[in-house]
Amino acid sequence: TRPLKVALLGCGVVGSEVARIMTTHADDLTQRIGAPVELAGVAVRRPSKVREGIDPALITTDATALLERGDIDVVIEVIGGIEPARTLITTAFENGASVVSANKALLAQDGAALHAAAEKHGRDLYYEAAVAGAIPLVRPMRESLAGDKINRVMGIVNGTTNFILDKMDTTGAGYQEALDEATALGYAEADPTADVEGYDAAAKAAILAGIAFHTRVRLDDVYREGMTEVSASDFASAKRMGCTIKLLAILERAADGASVTARVHPAMIPLTHPLASVREAYNAVFVEAEAAGRLMFYGPGAGGSPTASAVLGDLVAVCRNKLAQATGPGESAYTQLPVSTMGEV
Ligand code: HSE
Repeated sequence: TRPLKVALLGCGVVGSEVARIMTTHADDLTQRIGAPVELAGVAVRRPSKVREGIDPALITTDATALLERGDIDVVIEVIGGIEPARTLITTAFENGASVVSANKALLAQDGAALHAAAEKHGRDLYYEAAVAGAIPLVRPMRESLAGDKINRVMGIVNGTTNFILDKMDTTGAGYQEALDEATALGYAEADPTADVEGYDAAAKAAILAGIAFHTRVRLDDVYREGMTEVSASDFASAKRMGCTIKLLAILERAADGASVTARVHPAMIPLTHPLASVREAYNAVFVEAEAAGRLMFYGPGAGGSPTASAVLGDLVAVCRNKLAQATGPGESAYTQLPVSTMGEV
């Protein structure tokens, strides 16, 4: 069988880990897919940076030319952000490749158009890594629960803020002190706005709501409140009530099925709730489905290796589809429901 050719767009923390695992686990991947996968090119912004284990001949700064070669089977997009990722993904579909992406911002903003482009060209778009890192969530919701009806999703989908809130809870530290520790440990970015103001969680919430309720929810539709105002005294009050405080993404289907709500904000939850025991930078998502009942998905929601694990799982699935001359479950069939920011309670 001819090798399946993979183009990697972006070679930062996640991309370099994906490349490393593709090399070290090449035999396992070949066995699971039924054909070898070959890294055919790696598009980067800074070619001079040393990238251990990657053949320098594969490195290019011209991502478009790499995609337009026309022999690429799968494109892995781990650049992040809206552009150039959006144009490159579209170019990939136009040139016959399927796409595995970890790009939550792009999926939350333009998911509908990207799915339509994938479908138009008969290709796959998989993005398990865009939500909650290593935790299998997108495909279980989209595939394993496809015969059920999800009514509610509630989760901790941002590791940085969970780390900060957990520190405040367990040590009595204030917000700034806990944020400084998160920065020192490499959880928080130099500019922590996307995490602490809830934008990252809101993007993930938008993606999850679309999958859970077979509709489209965009980042702007999600009510968003960050956690920068949560204080040590809020935690003291919460504790007196047998509660803790978490930054939650809450997605609900209205009882009549005619609308959905999507919101991200700090919330008090009883210490007896399973989400209360999610510590440090872990993520957890609680899914309530009609027939399945309550499910909880838990694990590392960020970081190079966990995110790479999700990317590689998608790579295997997309390659298998390709060999079967099939595509996975598409998502262009959806009913646009109104999105409100207020819950029913
Ligand atoms: N900044 C994110 C987090 C990374 O802390 O969860 C994963 O999107």
